[in-house]
Amino acid sequence: MAGVTLKNVVKYFDENEILKGIDLEIKDQEFMVLVGPSGCGKTTTLRIIAGLEDADGGEVLIGDQDVTNVLPKDRNIAMVFQSYALYPHLSVFDNMGFALKLQKVSKAEIKSRVDMASEILGLQDLLKRKPRQLSGGQRQRVALGRAIVRDPAVFLMDEPLSNLDAKLRVQMRGELKKLYERLKTTIVYVTHDQVEAMTLGTRITIMKDGHIQQVEKPLEVYDRPANMFVAGFIGSPAMNFLHGYIKKEEGKFVFVTDSIKVWLPDNLYTEFEALPDKEWVLGIRPEDVLDKQSAMYLKKDFNFLKAEVEFSEILGSENYIHLKAGKDRFVSKVDPHITPATSEKIEVAMDLRRMHLFDKENTLAVI
Ligand SMILES: Nc1ncnc2c1ncn2[C@@H]1O[C@H](COP(=O)(O)OP(=O)(O)OP(=O)(O)O)[C@@H](O)[C@H]1O
Ligand SMILES: [Mg+2]
Repeated sequence: MAGVTLKNVVKYFDENEILKGIDLEIKDQEFMVLVGPSGCGKTTTLRIIAGLEDADGGEVLIGDQDVTNVLPKDRNIAMVFQSYALYPHLSVFDNMGFALKLQKVSKAEIKSRVDMASEILGLQDLLKRKPRQLSGGQRQRVALGRAIVRDPAVFLMDEPLSNLDAKLRVQMRGELKKLYERLKTTIVYVTHDQVEAMTLGTRITIMKDGHIQQVEKPLEVYDRPANMFVAGFIGSPAMNFLHGYIKKEEGKFVFVTDSIKVWLPDNLYTEFEALPDKEWVLGIRPEDVLDKQSAMYLKKDFNFLKAEVEFSEILGSENYIHLKAGKDRFVSKVDPHITPATSEKIEVAMDLRRMHLFDKENTLAVI
């Protein structure tokens, strides 16, 4: 077992700088998820760790060893790809044992390792089948099994669940989690799905345009996003952003936009006092914009304001009400049985104790 360290890794494709100095320390036995929009460099980062792609600058360490010049097969890693890439003419057993056979591992040892992996993954009854006789989820498990039998120091997984339908994906997510608890090996897992990132990762690395934006535990990322990109990327529906100014009125701080005025929480007064007078972006998550009834019930000192319903998305478990107040647009996540009509003017309450504040120019979080 081993951790993985990237030091100032740079990668070009043609003249395009794809990775712009990646510094990342993945600890031994950590489940690290790399997440970010399409094209941000996740797969490239993984392929550089695997040695399938050469970096144009920087270093890669697996454990304490600088592997920059070590061949992929000698890096003691196993990679699981999005396309399972199983050998169609080989049985499940032979697919799983293939890499070991190449390494000239004895037949008995191969059998014992394949048995162990198929027991973990519930594949015991399928060992004689060919890939085409398997469901998508079963194929995915064989691909995982093929990695497990190699007992690598590090697993690299590139969107391993993205070919599965929604229900299977949820099921396999659970299985991966159990697998990790059992193997306790270092896993570097790439996805663009923020739910996978939140639920699987012991830590998450959020990437954008070849840069790392933040590396933190899932809930920490959610509660304290480092900048507006992370704040908007993690969380669904996305965090609301309101552009405006912080003013002092009657000895209290308020946030004012063209159409909204809200009182800011007392406990942050020293922070507001220190801020220069310029335009800011206030961030508030949809679940912190409450319907009037819930806010009254909670009897908190919330900011009530009127807004017009643009449209609603009722998901069964909750309702996302898309609201408009002047030029400001925001979403409120409420109980699904609260169903105001389109164009109705309703009152909502913002719980600003959970507010975020971002610098409009550099987008960094200041609160
Ligand atoms: N072999 C290549 N030649 C040229 N450009 C490439 C090559 N591989 C990747 N790129 C470019 O590098 C950038 C990063 O690609 P990468 O595959 O790492 O993105 P990603 O974050 O994995 O995206 P996705 O979520 O779509 O898989 C993209 O702009 C892509 O077009
Ligand atoms: Mg990719």
